[in-house]
Amino acid sequence: MATGLISKKNGTETSSFGTNGRINHDSSKFYNSKMYEGFNSISNNNARENEFPKDILNTIILGNAEKMEQIPDNSLHLMITSPPYNVTKDYDENLSLKEYLNLLKNVFIETHRVLVNGGRACVNIANVGRKPYLPLSDFISQMMLEIGFNMRGEIIWNKGAGAGVSMAWGSWQSASNPVLRDVHEYILIFSKGDYQRKANGKENSITKEQFMEWTKSIWTMNPESAKKVKHPAPFPEELPYRLIQLYSFKDDIILDPFMGSGTTAISALKSNRNFVGYEINKDYKLISEKRVNNYLNKSPLEFNIKSE
Ligand SMILES: C[S@@+](CC[C@H](N)C(=O)[O-])C[C@H]1O[C@@H](n2cnc3c(N)ncnc32)[C@H](O)[C@@H]1O
Repeated sequence: MATGLISKKNGTETSSFGTNGRINHDSSKFYNSKMYEGFNSISNNNARENEFPKDILNTIILGNAEKMEQIPDNSLHLMITSPPYNVTKDYDENLSLKEYLNLLKNVFIETHRVLVNGGRACVNIANVGRKPYLPLSDFISQMMLEIGFNMRGEIIWNKGAGAGVSMAWGSWQSASNPVLRDVHEYILIFSKGDYQRKANGKENSITKEQFMEWTKSIWTMNPESAKKVKHPAPFPEELPYRLIQLYSFKDDIILDPFMGSGTTAISALKSNRNFVGYEINKDYKLISEKRVNNYLNKSPLEFNIKSE
């Protein structure tokens, strides 16, 4: 179905054919349609922002992110993460699908608690397997809705030439059983409560060109080398960097509950934001702190990096 816009005297409204205008667009007809019955935005009545404890600002906490008891309710602004994939990588436990989704649910319930009203949550995830294919991105989107997040959209991360495409074609040049080879991952985007966040005097840092490009739903970025970072599944710095520019203000606090090698922390510092993270594995926590410290040695900024 092609849904478009029709011109009205003072703007446009949704119609069943296309126009190219989108000035003063009135979308109330669409949102009042039956499609949205029982699927309204979930509001959050607590607009209060609590103070974030200084002693854990810019630190990586060794521990399980299912309980982020050090972090007060409504006290940070953006969550960016790539959860463990539970596909028997070095750090993965061999959890059943139910146990795995339960772990993620506990972490995202905590994420919802600690985000301020209007705070955003961004989850990078790849779908796995073929027999059958496990649409983890779908399971997570559904889970986030159940928790009470509003979904804003999803970004397809096109991993481009660096995708390391599998050679498992299934049946070669035959309809008998061709197998898809993923060259993409997902970044699922949610808000707690309001879609809009008030700047309250904080500054933006995104450029016009970046805004034009990064509001598009397909991002092409090369993956990070696991060897270089000494972690089996790092994402490229570009990934949290773009999300931080797009979805946060300067001086905001960015959470990564699965900190891994510290990529989100470095991107936050490079963007004049603060971070806090959890990492359950002591060795990875050390790797991330080393990476952050290496970055800070090159920078005049002083941050509160705790080590064991
Ligand atoms: C996919 S990796 C994150 C990689 C990270 N984005 C980076 O760029 O390095 C997931 C990380 O979550 C950690 N982890 C697994 N379960 C956890 C839990 N319950 N709480 C905190 N960290 C956990 C793993 O040790 C692993 O380092």
